[in-house]
Amino acid sequence: MKQDLDRILISKESIAERVAQIAATMTQDLYAQFTGPDAPMPTVDQLSHNNRHPQVTLVPILTGSLIFVADLIRHLPLYLQIRLMGVSSYPGTATATRGASVKKQLTDLPESLAGHHVLLIDDILDSGGTLKLAVELLKERQPASVQTCVLLRKQRPEAMAFPVDYVCFDIPDEFVVGYGLDFDDYYRNLPDIHTLRPEVARAH
Ligand code: IMP
Ligand code: MG
Repeated sequence: MKQDLDRILISKESIAERVAQIAATMTQDLYAQFTGPDAPMPTVDQLSHNNRHPQVTLVPILTGSLIFVADLIRHLPLYLQIRLMGVSSYPGTATATRGASVKKQLTDLPESLAGHHVLLIDDILDSGGTLKLAVELLKERQPASVQTCVLLRKQRPEAMAFPVDYVCFDIPDEFVVGYGLDFDDYYRNLPDIHTLRPEVARAH
């Protein structure tokens, strides 16, 4: 499998550091929204069903954001639930975006998200088609707020112009795999983020 890979773009150590950092910012932002910027942060022990902490719903977009979300939530001392959303962005081949569609059988959003602060999480922002569709679907459920977070954003005009609240890394416009990101559903299990050899991507 290594012969398909070009170079390590982001190491697992850098990912871990940045994920912890962005989780801290998210937590502070959410509490600021609720209690004002100077309110003390509650500890995990204070989180309970009864003490009116913000209702936070994390919505990972399947499948690419799974590993990111698994790491992220362990740095979020928030009272939160997870609802999954399945979106396919590449029906057919792996490297050309052909628009996004919701996979209903993989989506478990409740009919109403009233009162919930939603954090929508995706692995990578490329054309913006996936996030646009996902945000529309969430807003129909009338949440208190929707914020978006991506692990990676490609430095291409469509991605840079798309409004997103949290970005862990801006990367060059190359095809990447690892840490949840796939090429034809493979390579998600690589701990680092790698670029794929262009000739491998082109062969599909
Ligand atoms: P968008 O809808 O064009 O923004 O694309 C977002 C989706 O495309 C992501 O959720 C990924 O699943 C996939 N994607 C885009 N670029 C890459 C890449 O370089 N590697 C792996 N998946 C990618
Ligand atoms: Mg994908």
